[in-house]
Amino acid sequence: MELNRLCVIYYSPTHTSRSVARAVADGMGIARREEIDLTTDRNTGPLPLRNAICLVAAPVYGGLTAPVALSRLRRLQAENCIAIPLVTYGNRDYEDALVQLRDVLQQQGFTPLCGAAFIGEHSYSRPGMPIAEGRPDETDLRTARDFGHRAYESLLRQTGTTDAPDVTARDFAMTYDRPLEQLITPVPMKGNVPYKTLGPSTPQAPVVSDLCYGCGECVDWCPTGAISLQDGRSVTQVNQCTKCCACVKFCPVGARTFDTPYTAMLHQKFSARREPELFI
Ligand SMILES: Cc1cc2nc3c(=O)[nH]c(=O)nc-3n(C[C@H](O)[C@H](O)[C@H](O)COP(=O)(O)O)c2cc1C
Ligand code: SF4
Ligand code: SF4
Repeated sequence: MELNRLCVIYYSPTHTSRSVARAVADGMGIARREEIDLTTDRNTGPLPLRNAICLVAAPVYGGLTAPVALSRLRRLQAENCIAIPLVTYGNRDYEDALVQLRDVLQQQGFTPLCGAAFIGEHSYSRPGMPIAEGRPDETDLRTARDFGHRAYESLLRQTGTTDAPDVTARDFAMTYDRPLEQLITPVPMKGNVPYKTLGPSTPQAPVVSDLCYGCGECVDWCPTGAISLQDGRSVTQVNQCTKCCACVKFCPVGARTFDTPYTAMLHQKFSARREPELFI
């Protein structure tokens, strides 16, 4: 039996989870590496994966893993695959998101190895009211790379690989003689099972100003297809909006804004810097 590549899988509307996952991958150093970006992938068919070490990253929404991320990850069908769940949150808290992500990956056939929670700029952060602005920063990314390195060492140790494979080789392969679930001791992670429950959320979407000139970039960035162009302006289907703020962050002329009282509250109450938490 063998693990023969690294797979970086993410759902990341504002790209912070993607940055963290890529840094962890850099720390592992495995050259045979591929990416699966589920952010705007609205296909529903199964995604089979075999013999891969998978870094799986998603944002925290309301203390749980973003629901759209979970529904897309449920397409994965893993066979002889390691999962390293990674959640990214906006400096408030990640509550039950990490254990929830781990459990969903286990249900999809992965063997979880270890996991971590990182901090990313909050989706609601904006100029004048920053929340974890600029994160993950260089310190976070260094921690992520170091975590990747340690995770790989742990995998070598637990699979009993004494003759470490060449991570730079195109035919990279880590071989072992028993199923992964018999070799890997799961690491406890922070979070409650059963997970917290959330009440219904009020539908809301960013508003569009006259600055919009209909370039259509937000149509491409939107994970759920909530945006269309009408009469040269972008229009949002409120009931399809997940409030991810990708369109707000990436509109080239700042034509989209998302106003919520949470921004001021989060800016005031959660300004103290939190650090990544590693479960390894
Ligand atoms: C609807 C929504 C709910 C969120 N809930 C939380 C939360 O409970 N705790 C927190 O610290 N950050 C929360 N955030 C912030 C995101 O977790 C954070 O910005 C994350 O870095 C976004 O990841 P991405 O860049 O990969 O999209 C929330 C963001 C959104 C849009
Ligand atoms: S990205 Fe901005 S300018 Fe372009 S269509 Fe969307 S809102 Fe309009
Ligand atoms: S319309 Fe809503 S779901 Fe789509 S990118 Fe903007 S905030 Fe995200």
